[in-house]
Amino acid sequence: MEPLISARNIKKYFKVKEGILKAVDGISFDIYPGETFGLVGESGCGKSTTGRTITRLIEPTEGEMYFEGENIFEISESELRKRRRDFQFIFQDPYASLDPRMTIEEIVAEPLEIYGVYKDADQRREEVIELLNLVGLSEEHGSRFPHEFSGGQRQRVGVARALALRPKFIVCDEPISALDVSIQAQVINILIDLQDKMNLTYLFIAHDLSMVKYISDRVGVMYLGNMMEVAKSEELYSNPLHPYTIALLSAIPIADPKVQKEKKRIILKGEVPSPIDPPDRCPFADRCPRAEDMCRQSKPEFKEVTQGHFVACHLVK
Ligand SMILES: Nc1ncnc2c1ncn2[C@@H]1O[C@H](COP(=O)(O)OP(=O)(O)OP(=O)(O)O)[C@@H](O)[C@H]1O
Ligand SMILES: [Mg+2]
Repeated sequence: MEPLISARNIKKYFKVKEGILKAVDGISFDIYPGETFGLVGESGCGKSTTGRTITRLIEPTEGEMYFEGENIFEISESELRKRRRDFQFIFQDPYASLDPRMTIEEIVAEPLEIYGVYKDADQRREEVIELLNLVGLSEEHGSRFPHEFSGGQRQRVGVARALALRPKFIVCDEPISALDVSIQAQVINILIDLQDKMNLTYLFIAHDLSMVKYISDRVGVMYLGNMMEVAKSEELYSNPLHPYTIALLSAIPIADPKVQKEKKRIILKGEVPSPIDPPDRCPFADRCPRAEDMCRQSKPEFKEVTQGHFVACHLVK
């Protein structure tokens, strides 16, 4: 199967007064049609910047980003505008991303409005009701305002809005992190259900591995602007290869208390280093329990070690 998305050597640097901040420093990955690709890593490692760069919400510093075979980093603004319909965003904070002065109906209909999809008010209304129904809301919710809704309901509105233009690809940037644990599963289940119904492909961003495990077909682990490991979910959880992934997994509590007791939690020493003018070496070297001299001398290549299992580590052969 051809990937829907092929991101190649994506870089996004920001000029800051201290130097060059390398938010995303040359990452590559594919996402296949109908798949959920989970992207995890600590705060500040470049997950959101990756999502924004590959959809060209911000301009890339370098790289190639193929969407259905077309490099969207090279197309003109007007072509990009047409393409944008195919990719949408769902954000972490549904409250901040919904205009408080607009009714739910107006919010959900806005993308249709912008793209001039429905000229006729009745037709537009029908479409909005259908979208609300898709996310488990009903017609009468349409006339209300965001503040009248719970966090979970607001996120449903955010999902309905993202679906309005029938996109192919959705970047879900920590869509459940701000929600109560009891609501998180509901929103996840809606996303999974919609994926089947509407043949959607997701980039699903989250802080920790436990959250992406359930929803992701494959997972990428980022650290300091770099992709450290990519594998199928089961493979990543059962056979993690990168010392950073192993450390992250050791922090996930296991439901079985006996196993939990025997499990050794790896506490990483030190802090995440600065992404400003980073030295040319393994970004994890300073905190890695297994680091050797060569790890401080050059940056390891991101390579496929077994079929579909990629890792950037000098110590993994
Ligand atoms: N517009 C900007 N100008 C300068 N630096 C930026 C800008 N946007 C992001 N950064 C920096 O880029 C790095 C990556 O940020 P990003 O928001 O992508 O991380 P993240 O992995 O999404 O973190 P979080 O989990 O907290 O959302 C951080 O060091 C951040 O401070
Ligand atoms: Mg983020």
